[in-house]
Amino acid sequence: MIEIREMRMSDELRVRELCATLPEMDMERERPLGFHLKRSTLVAVEDGTVVGHTTWSHHDLFTAWDETVVAASHQGRGIGRQLMEARAARTPGFIIGAAHDENEPMIHLLTSLGFHACQRVGSMMMYTRPHPKERLE
Ligand SMILES: CC(C)(COP(=O)(O)OP(=O)(O)OC[C@H]1O[C@@H](n2cnc3c(N)ncnc32)[C@H](O)[C@@H]1OP(=O)(O)O)[C@@H](O)C(=O)NCCC(=O)NCCS
Repeated sequence: MIEIREMRMSDELRVRELCATLPEMDMERERPLGFHLKRSTLVAVEDGTVVGHTTWSHHDLFTAWDETVVAASHQGRGIGRQLMEARAARTPGFIIGAAHDENEPMIHLLTSLGFHACQRVGSMMMYTRPHPKERLE
């Protein structure tokens, strides 16, 4: 059974391991220590092991969705959806996310959570989700 909870300090090593599997994450772009703890991070835990996380940063006017990673051994079981739904439900206001063109699971997740493509940046599409109460007609 999967538990979704807030990240703790003791999760940092494992979350950094998961993050290091992101295709664009090379040595020069490695997240600094404390990156995930300083932001808003939820982890998915199975049998005491962190198997996924989602990290968001809150700004004055918007929330940025920084990354969501599920361990390769655990992908395709609905864990990414559980993480993103849990965080999106707890996040009011305007949210900005991004997905590479080839990342079909992530594009599907974002659009099914109400995000809309808004701006291309190279091979990446930016997505936004207006607050339900603030949507313009
Ligand atoms: C993207 C990622 C977080 C998704 O996590 P996951 O636990 O595997 O995803 P889920 O099992 O919750 O499935 C997500 C949805 O994508 C769908 N999906 C899976 N493969 C798909 C594909 N090729 N095309 C379209 N949709 C697809 C699933 O059916 C599911 O939709 P549903 O809930 O409506 O059935 C995970 O694949 C991952 O960690 N990838 C590597 C890291 C990454 O690229 N992160 C994103 C950028 S930070």
